[in-house]
Amino acid sequence: MTMQTATLPAIIVETQNLTKIYGNGYQVRALDGVSLCVHAGEFVAVVGPSGSGKSTLLNMIGALDRPTSGEVIIDGAPLSKVRDLDRFRSETIGFIFQTHNLIPTLTALENVETPTYELPLRGRERRRRAEDILRLVGLGERMTFLPAQLSGGERQRVAIARALVNRPAIVLADEPTGMLDSHTTQDIMDLLTQLNRSQGTTIIVVTHNHEVARATRRVVTFRDGQIQADVPLKNAFDSDLYDLKASSLGHALLSGDALPSDLQEIAPQLRDILARV
Ligand SMILES: Nc1ncnc2c1ncn2[C@@H]1O[C@H](COP(=O)(O)OP(=O)(O)OP(=O)(O)O)[C@@H](O)[C@H]1O
Ligand SMILES: [Mg+2]
Repeated sequence: MTMQTATLPAIIVETQNLTKIYGNGYQVRALDGVSLCVHAGEFVAVVGPSGSGKSTLLNMIGALDRPTSGEVIIDGAPLSKVRDLDRFRSETIGFIFQTHNLIPTLTALENVETPTYELPLRGRERRRRAEDILRLVGLGERMTFLPAQLSGGERQRVAIARALVNRPAIVLADEPTGMLDSHTTQDIMDLLTQLNRSQGTTIIVVTHNHEVARATRRVVTFRDGQIQADVPLKNAFDSDLYDLKASSLGHALLSGDALPSDLQEIAPQLRDILARV
């Protein structure tokens, strides 16, 4: 008899009992014992109310800030033990923020090239990588434009190209489509999905947008600095159920609020189904 061993991809991001307390006098417990595992190649959405700790989590995972207690382990390396965090970050992680922080005096191409100076590359190789990635995000015709000459969606695509140019294993995105219209949001999510599928890049995206969340494969919900729910979205129906759960009807069903009379009869079945996601 042969042993069947299911080979799961390695855990690439792990937080162990992560706690972050801000402030000296009045203290804010922004993260409260968060333990989360993300496997290589996952595409995860982090959702939750304003102030629930989503950005704080991303900042800790990205080594932009240190936790009060607990540990972050990236690709097997505990961040508290990493000597050169700047280098580690630029080699492993790409950041995309809501405000894209492009340098206004540099062209799209030069902005995208900036992070490559952290790597030991030749000048020609830097340029080639930056050009390739700008073409990938559909900006092959805009390389010499300054940020002010680009639309909001184009600027965000430059920011994404900049996050990807060092070919990071992990992309952390904090509300990357927050300022964009729904059509551009869809384009950006398609781009991230393509990156996730074709390169196996692990993506963690913080979002308030349900359309963005359902484009991913797993939704982690935060509340008061803790993980409230962690739901894999295996197929389109799961995504629809997740949407229903997040809707006012879903809230009414789960909280036992009054329902329209024609729904009362099927409410118990709906409630059971929603309990699954
Ligand atoms: N540098 C800081 N100093 C003090 N408190 C902070 C700091 N950063 C965040 N906080 C507090 O920590 C809590 C979590 O903040 P965080 O930015 O992680 O929330 P969030 O879930 O990203 O919210 P939003 O959806 O509004 O972006 C909030 O109560 C916030 O006020
Ligand atoms: Mg935030």
